[in-house]
Amino acid sequence: MKKIAFLFLLSFATLQLQAQDKPKTAKTSPRIIILATGGTIAGSGESSTKAAYTAGKVPIDDLLNAVPQIHDYGKITGEQIASIGSQDMNVVTWLKLSKRINEIFKNNEADAVVVTHGTDTQEETAYFLDLTIMSDKPVVIVGAMRPSTAMSQDGNRNLLDAVMVAASPKSQGKGVIVAMDEKVFDARDVTKTSSTNLETFQSRNFGPIGLIYDGKVNYYYQSLRNPSKKFDVTKLTSLPQVEIVYGYADASPQSVTGILGSEVKGIVYAGMGNGNFGEPVGKALAEASKKGIVVCRSARAGSGRITLDNEVKDEELGFVVSDDLNPQKARVLLMLSLTETADRTKIQQNFFEY
Ligand code: SIN
Repeated sequence: MKKIAFLFLLSFATLQLQAQDKPKTAKTSPRIIILATGGTIAGSGESSTKAAYTAGKVPIDDLLNAVPQIHDYGKITGEQIASIGSQDMNVVTWLKLSKRINEIFKNNEADAVVVTHGTDTQEETAYFLDLTIMSDKPVVIVGAMRPSTAMSQDGNRNLLDAVMVAASPKSQGKGVIVAMDEKVFDARDVTKTSSTNLETFQSRNFGPIGLIYDGKVNYYYQSLRNPSKKFDVTKLTSLPQVEIVYGYADASPQSVTGILGSEVKGIVYAGMGNGNFGEPVGKALAEASKKGIVVCRSARAGSGRITLDNEVKDEELGFVVSDDLNPQKARVLLMLSLTETADRTKIQQNFFEY
């Protein structure tokens, strides 16, 4: 009888432990550093019911104080990396962020990192970090669609979830992940799909890799595109310039020629359908390619992939394709690839591997 009672108690305790991803003792409590960059999650408005607000106003300490429950998940500290709306995110801040995260893990300052960020360019920062962070430890990026002063603000819940996800041992080795709106996304695949709705982040080709509910994260999928070789940005202070050219009906070649002659080393073409272009733009892109600019065909469609040497003679024209990366993510990979090589075969390989 005693044995049955003991077994019952043991299985009850195990269930309780599984119920939440909370660490139980100070010894197992993970150290989590929250790096704040601004965005709507740190946004402040004059009214709780009106849409107008300024992004990046609320400092990290106030953000953390607003969600005291995060301290249940680990030893939490915060650092302010930037205070900007993510429309102003830039290469200098990306490099600063990436170098700081690599330093945190190298010096064993933390077991996980959470980055608070504006949602507008969250996907680009996530992918940049995914390609440059040399650690298996969790890096979770989080934002909000409503400012902290709004009645329907989503930042506090998202931040709590992101810290819980970062603290969970299940989040190790997943590359950089985005935790938003009770879902976890792979950095490479996630994209912002609505300019105003709360449920804006989606991975249109593959879906979320995990779901968050009631203080718990469950993972279902993992991307195979998470190569162990990362880009080393330690010594970099800038990246090669890559511009995006948007494709549309009856586009003028000026959309391409207008940007040449500057420091441009690469062009991502956000083409129609399978990365297609009209004849005048095609000629301008071929000219650019002949001049040594790496032209990468991507698509404005929002999902699917770009197929090499199908309708377009990529090999002949010296073009590469982005595979399933959207134009803004293709730009990130092209910039990083160009720090190592201008060889199109190698760059194309990167697009099929990263
Ligand atoms: C921004 O990206 O900083 C503004 C929009 C947002 O965070 O939702």
